[in-house]
Amino acid sequence: MFENLINILRDFRNYFFPNRNPFGSKILATKDYYLLVYEKAKNEKFLEIDNFENLTGFSVNKSWLDELALHTQVVKKKTSINYQHGRVLYSLLRKYIQDQKINYIKILEIGTARGFSSICMSKAIIDSKIDGDISTIDIISNKNKIYWNCIDDHDGKKSRQELLNPWQKELKNIHFLTGPSSLILKKINCDRINFAFIDGMHNDFNVRKEFKFISLKQTKGDYIIFDDYSTDFPDIVRFINEIREDDVYDIKIISSAKDRSYALLQKKI
Ligand SMILES: C[S@@+](CC[C@H](N)C(=O)[O-])C[C@H]1O[C@@H](n2cnc3c(N)ncnc32)[C@H](O)[C@@H]1O
Repeated sequence: MFENLINILRDFRNYFFPNRNPFGSKILATKDYYLLVYEKAKNEKFLEIDNFENLTGFSVNKSWLDELALHTQVVKKKTSINYQHGRVLYSLLRKYIQDQKINYIKILEIGTARGFSSICMSKAIIDSKIDGDISTIDIISNKNKIYWNCIDDHDGKKSRQELLNPWQKELKNIHFLTGPSSLILKKINCDRINFAFIDGMHNDFNVRKEFKFISLKQTKGDYIIFDDYSTDFPDIVRFINEIREDDVYDIKIISSAKDRSYALLQKKI
């Protein structure tokens, strides 16, 4: 009860008084630092993800993905850089589009950050040669010029729109919505969400609301993907184990590292 109140207050604060500098007010690392981290990350091998791609029959172009990751995933942080969720989302989405034989897809994402996952999903739509749209929600605005803790900071502050400028084709399918999901979801008016990626605030209060909103708009075969099914995020693990008991979604867990797993939920009925 008290925890819920704290969450509601935080969401209102994020809506009315968003943090102007979510990644800090200065450049956090040199260009060389970002490039060094990038070289290391792009040369790592991820067997389980390779196998997953083989299983789906689809894999995203590696140099395209690496280039996008350099600008939207390579940051200065304590944990290692891992952008394998881009491969998972791309392959699964391509397979879903093929299996469902659809010519329009509606996607929802919670947690845009620098736009990496949205751009990967948009590429899957484009490469499948169908139409679709992605609504992506974040408390970070699309228009404010900020430092993003990435290599682009060395060109000055940019808005997300400017950061993603090289991916114009992919941007055409994406609607960026600003604010906490608990308030923004209320404004989304659609009957169906074929595919969703939940990667925003990793707590019970938010994922529960997000899951409920999405699952009511899904039918057999549709997907919800959760990032970070791992011990670092106990609320996510607990919540997914609870969903497992309801037996409405088939749940597969795949991992790119010991501490980085993704939960793929496919609606059964
Ligand atoms: C892990 S990042 C998302 C990463 C992104 N999906 C990617 O692949 O690059 C989580 C994002 O969720 C956003 N966020 C945090 N709380 C949120 C909320 N209540 N509603 C929407 N977004 C939120 C944060 O600002 C952050 O950008």
